[in-house]
Amino acid sequence: MPSLTRVLVVALCATFAAGALSAPAVAKSKSKSQGGLSVTKSSFGNLPPSMGGTAIDRYTLRNGRGMSVAIITYGGIIQELTLPDRRGRKANVTLGFADIAGYTSEAYAEANPYFGAIIGRYGNRIGGAQFTLDGVTYPLDANNGPNTLHGGFQGFDKKVWDAESFKTAKTVGVRLTYTSPDGEGGFPGTLPVEMIYTLDNRNRLRMDYEATTDKPTVVNLTNHAYWNLAGEGSGSIEGHLLKLNADRYTPVDETLIPTGELAAVAGTPFDFRSFHTIGERIRGNHEQLVFGRGYDHNWVLNPPRGSGLNLAAKLVDPSSGRVLSILTTEPGIQFYSGNFLSGTLYGTSGRQYRQGDGLALETQHFPDSPNKPQFPSTTLRPGETYSTTTVYAFSTKGGGH
Ligand code: GLA
Repeated sequence: MPSLTRVLVVALCATFAAGALSAPAVAKSKSKSQGGLSVTKSSFGNLPPSMGGTAIDRYTLRNGRGMSVAIITYGGIIQELTLPDRRGRKANVTLGFADIAGYTSEAYAEANPYFGAIIGRYGNRIGGAQFTLDGVTYPLDANNGPNTLHGGFQGFDKKVWDAESFKTAKTVGVRLTYTSPDGEGGFPGTLPVEMIYTLDNRNRLRMDYEATTDKPTVVNLTNHAYWNLAGEGSGSIEGHLLKLNADRYTPVDETLIPTGELAAVAGTPFDFRSFHTIGERIRGNHEQLVFGRGYDHNWVLNPPRGSGLNLAAKLVDPSSGRVLSILTTEPGIQFYSGNFLSGTLYGTSGRQYRQGDGLALETQHFPDSPNKPQFPSTTLRPGETYSTTTVYAFSTKGGGH
């Protein structure tokens, strides 16, 4: 199995950049507009005093096609993502809140859905909240039963990131940086991380992640946006159609840790090689669906056919015609059908989020890779650069799919 895509990704990025996305050059002014592309910075309020009171900024990226994306410096969260449907009617298609209080409330901490956030140091679970690297065992936060989830109690989703907007001839974006101190959450090594969000005029939002370390460590970064392509707060995503470019997935035990097996999806409710609605098979009694309370699994992406980013997933809302395609350099994708949303949160438009009212598609290395030598490696060593790219590409289509 290949290890992290560190070197390969440079070639992949170059290929992709040959399209509409060119390398970002950081600019300084507060608001810029060109060809319909603009980036504006505004205040998103302050963290509560108990969380340090830090001022949180919001960067809004807009293009000439009616799409806008708002990113806040708290957690690097995609707070809003608005785009037209097939008739040009706009809606915000990602779950979140209208103000910082939503992200810092007790109800949110209890539900812990990670809406729109950057996830690190390790996306998804590490079994038994520990791993061993070069003969040293590192105990981690057990924040999800016996396991570590999404980096532990104070993951990257809860950090305030430094931010700088930029603009190129064909893109606008925001560059976020955060340096995770040695030992944070139990993980070894000082880890400077950079995450760049870039929007172009083809309705593509690109995410470039980079990290380095001064001690051998493990890293697995992702974004945890929830989608409801009919609009957040509009009800269930069970009618959305999903296609995943994967012949295999990683089955889990009852605590959602992979067993280590790469199982064929053929003949199971995990076969999304052609379009299926999310709801079609979700209430089946397949043991894996019972463990996940629905879909909460990692799919093993089929290797890319040529150079360039690999098409991982396609999500279609037949009612609005909105389509999300996800392309990535990562070997896996976690499809989580919003099983733990339970009506305790009221989102951006003030409407309740119930089970299955949004879904996440998290590009990643496989869960528990640090304890599964047969999985693609998540080890990062001094002198290496962790580098991955994922693109959310939006489009619309008429009736059918
Ligand atoms: C991931 C996990 C889920 C759940 C969500 C956040 O997708 O796999 O089990 O924890 O994050 O609620």
